[in-house]
Amino acid sequence: MELVHRDGLARIGKFKTKHGVIETPTVLPVINPNKITITPEEMKSLGAQGIITNSYIIRRTDALREKALKDGVHSLVSFDGPIMTDSGTFQSYVYGDMEYDNRGIVDFQRKIGSDIITILDIFSKPDDTYGMARDAVDETYSRMREIEVGDGEIIAGPVQGSVYQDLREKAARLMSSSDAGYLPVGGVVPLLESYQYDKLVDIVLTARMNSDFSKPIHLFGGGHPMFLAISVLLGVDFFDSASYVKYARDGRMLYPDGTRDLVKLRTLPRWSPIYGKYTVKELLDAESEERTAALSRHNLAAIFMEINEIKERIFQNNLWQYVESRARSHPYLYRAFRRILERNGDLVGFEPLYRKASFHYYDSYSNSHPTLKRLSEFTERFLTENRKETVILPFGSRNPGKRDYGIIRDIYEKYDMNLLVPWCNTYVPIELEDTYPIEQIISSDITDERLHRNELLKVEKIIGKGWVFEKKEMKDHSDITEKSRNFNLEKIRAVADLQFGHSVGKALFPDGCRIITSRATGRLRNILLNDQILATMRAQDGFFTLTVAGAERIRDAVEYPGLRVSVTDDSAEYNSKGFNVFFKFITEYDRGIVASNETIVVDSKDNVVAVGRASVSGREIGDYRSGVAVKTHHSIKSIKDPSEE
Ligand code: GUN
Repeated sequence: MELVHRDGLARIGKFKTKHGVIETPTVLPVINPNKITITPEEMKSLGAQGIITNSYIIRRTDALREKALKDGVHSLVSFDGPIMTDSGTFQSYVYGDMEYDNRGIVDFQRKIGSDIITILDIFSKPDDTYGMARDAVDETYSRMREIEVGDGEIIAGPVQGSVYQDLREKAARLMSSSDAGYLPVGGVVPLLESYQYDKLVDIVLTARMNSDFSKPIHLFGGGHPMFLAISVLLGVDFFDSASYVKYARDGRMLYPDGTRDLVKLRTLPRWSPIYGKYTVKELLDAESEERTAALSRHNLAAIFMEINEIKERIFQNNLWQYVESRARSHPYLYRAFRRILERNGDLVGFEPLYRKASFHYYDSYSNSHPTLKRLSEFTERFLTENRKETVILPFGSRNPGKRDYGIIRDIYEKYDMNLLVPWCNTYVPIELEDTYPIEQIISSDITDERLHRNELLKVEKIIGKGWVFEKKEMKDHSDITEKSRNFNLEKIRAVADLQFGHSVGKALFPDGCRIITSRATGRLRNILLNDQILATMRAQDGFFTLTVAGAERIRDAVEYPGLRVSVTDDSAEYNSKGFNVFFKFITEYDRGIVASNETIVVDSKDNVVAVGRASVSGREIGDYRSGVAVKTHHSIKSIKDPSEE
């Protein structure tokens, strides 16, 4: 799997098969070789890049088996793109019989030329006992192990484990460590059918976090457009859908936010491929086969329209906002979204440092967003390390006017105390005023008194009772001339602490450094030491871009391999000229690297050769084998002025 674009756990990737490259996330429509309603070729025009069919059905049916063995599965279904075949696990779960064994089933899929072959896994139901589910995980893993995977062959090793998180974790780890190159999450159809989306959140998240990131995750049976965005947000790459035709047979139509009955419809939506070809009445009066085909077309279009939108949102870096808005379209979806918020601690590690899109703040639930969780953890630590008189400034989430701002700066420099700004029902240090997402926010300004009080109590608990002031008069302090600290210096240090870790700020920016502000905007710009630029504060997100000199100061202050990737010496030579770092040349790295943050590139002797931006988090770096890990912007042999960026 090669990464094209990433937003948290959501990603756009490229997955190579013998019959072509698939761009994920995508849905593989299910083709029943006995009953092809829409040809796979037509599906291509509706957006399908590959299809899934069932090797068990093919093998059991004489005519299909003979043709598939003779001409291959691609010829059988008349499709020249990637074909995944399932093993019959699901049929065995539904009908209870299975006359073939695992090796035989895999071998048959090989013989008919499948691109993605599925082993015969054991389907665990949500209500299975722990013991049953555990045995199924173990048995599925040993079935994976008994298959020898050939060069270039893709074997799907399903992750089972029912609703037991530790079993899902175990299954994900075992399958990741095996030769399976593709990881479907199995046993979830009963949950999908009963709208238990909150349980699916746990299952998908646990499976994704504990799997090899270079292997795609597939959600077996999860092709309903309603649940696609939330699944992609949690890291699902592939889906399959039989519902497009099953629903069509029942006169039901898929829409991005749910399902509607044809009989209750007044008009067809304009986006539908059958709009203008039929009226609702004509469809109702049509022969059942014609109606099923028409509704299948519509349903596939709904699925791929949603996939397109999701991909667009990943590119825009605002899939979360899309999921948040879509969560309100159904109470069960909303419940699932709330479950995601509860698991924000797991998501923080994958969260990028900043996003292109502004942060949308709705109400106190937005405080559970992983970005705000990270910020609140920072503030707690900031206060813990600065236990001193703390004043809550008397203005809200907006910056104060210029005149007040002058007074506040003056006070800040004359008194050694913490100044906190109320922001989105919580409090942030004033030093972070320009930093994402504090300034890059669109807020409803809806106050939640309870959360506000709790946050204040939290501050009081850290600082100590009697040392936190909510209302302190902001007097003119012009009679005091002595300044004990410099606001800009404290500000750049606090931002560096947030960006690189506590206490890095002081090491990166020592007392003698010079801060250049932009003449046009008055904002901080370059930070210099001995006429050398260490870092530039970016106008759009308030974080720093480092130069090599800045990177060297961090390297000296932070224990190896903190904030860096170490590469082979051949790669180091190449990267020192300004070329990007590829995953496969990384020999050691910091597991705590934050996606999109500045990352230092060092050779085997810890010499800095370049600095750039990490394309993924430290949790993922070790898994990928192809693609760019660090996009370099400064290097020792081609030193660019960061202000030209
Ligand atoms: N189709 C739907 N669920 C499953 C599953 O758990 N395993 C397999 N192999 N196919 C499925």
